Amino acid sequence: MFSLFGGKKSLIGSDLLRGGTDNHSHLLYGVDDGVRTLDESLSILSRMEEAGLRRLWLTPHIMEDVPNTTEGLQERFERLKGEEYKGGIELRLAAEYMMDNLYEERLAAGDLLLHGEDRVLVETSTMAPPMDLFGTLRKTLSKGYRPVLAHPERYHYMRESDYRRLRQMGILFQLNLPSLIGYYGPAVQAKAQDFLGRGWYEMTGSDCHRESMIARHYEEKVLKTKTVALLRPLMDR
Ligand SMILES: [Fe+2]
Repeated sequence: MFSLFGGKKSLIGSDLLRGGTDNHSHLLYGVDDGVRTLDESLSILSRMEEAGLRRLWLTPHIMEDVPNTTEGLQERFERLKGEEYKGGIELRLAAEYMMDNLYEERLAAGDLLLHGEDRVLVETSTMAPPMDLFGTLRKTLSKGYRPVLAHPERYHYMRESDYRRLRQMGILFQLNLPSLIGYYGPAVQAKAQDFLGRGWYEMTGSDCHRESMIARHYEEKVLKTKTVALLRPLMDR
């Protein structure tokens, strides 16, 4: 069929999600600033299943302003997975930890919702670094955890030297797919494109908070053919 965009396709149109993993989402409803209702969660999950997604990590925020407990999230997750969600995507639970005092406490207590065996998904404010970013990450590593930095392309305060230092420390990078389509503006988009070209990303995720993100960005916005090719090997990690 004739396409207005030539060879370019959307995330869903390019079939990138088929057999893939979404490593970062706020679809566990009613626990943070993400999805509020079960209906919206189910509706997004059904769109993603149609697009072929195989596995999805629910990664609710944990921070001083949103002090979710491990047990509270596990309880809500078990209900969603066990009784409420009847679809075919494999759901897993982790969390997205803001590197603040609450994180330091949870880390000291070994009370973390891990992303797999030893990984822990962490973030900072997009505007300013935490008190001791590298110290906190070193502490995390020394406890035997592997930090995965959520959406590194979104941190306006980080410079080239910061990213290089993080990578040298062994910190893994998780790309937000919407960054590539301009969801957070052109500066973030350019950084994401650059990092992707350098092979700096370990994994990807939607960081989906709302159904509109999927409709407007996953389904409508198109990607360059080269971008799709660079993304393909990352999608099932
Ligand atoms: Fe997030």
